Amino acid sequence: MPPAHGLSIGALSERTGLAVSAIRYYESQGLIAPWRNAGGQRRFHRADIRRLSFVMIAQQMGFSLPAIRDLLAQLPGQRTPTARDWARISAVFRDHLDQRIETLQRLRDNLDGCIGCGCLSLSKCRLYNPDDRAAAKGTGPRYLMGDRPEG
Ligand code: FES
Repeated sequence: MPPAHGLSIGALSERTGLAVSAIRYYESQGLIAPWRNAGGQRRFHRADIRRLSFVMIAQQMGFSLPAIRDLLAQLPGQRTPTARDWARISAVFRDHLDQRIETLQRLRDNLDGCIGCGCLSLSKCRLYNPDDRAAAKGTGPRYLMGDRPEG
């Protein structure tokens, strides 16, 4: 049962700093679910301020909207994350960030070999295939796809 009053989309925009169009987009992605008041206007829960803050933080960390939706869906009753939920989810975020940092460091190290080269060769470029050692693992940019170099 929605509360009798709620936030207008303009008020939610003001409180979150998000453009109205962005809020509508998040709504279309199922991340927030407003109701319609008697006049047919969208009304948002106050908790949607926190919910949208969570969405923005998760996006900054590189999570896709479907992944964020999955995270929110794991909360009982699909409620807005509480402080305890946030403590638990932030540990997941830390693991995700560690993996991204590792990938970016690997990219940076391989990029050193490309500076001044410009070949962009699928067979020679270190970014795609360092020393061609990745060939045994399959096609494509194996290390960028998450395979680990041996030794
Ligand atoms: S561009 Fe030549 S090795 Fe990467």
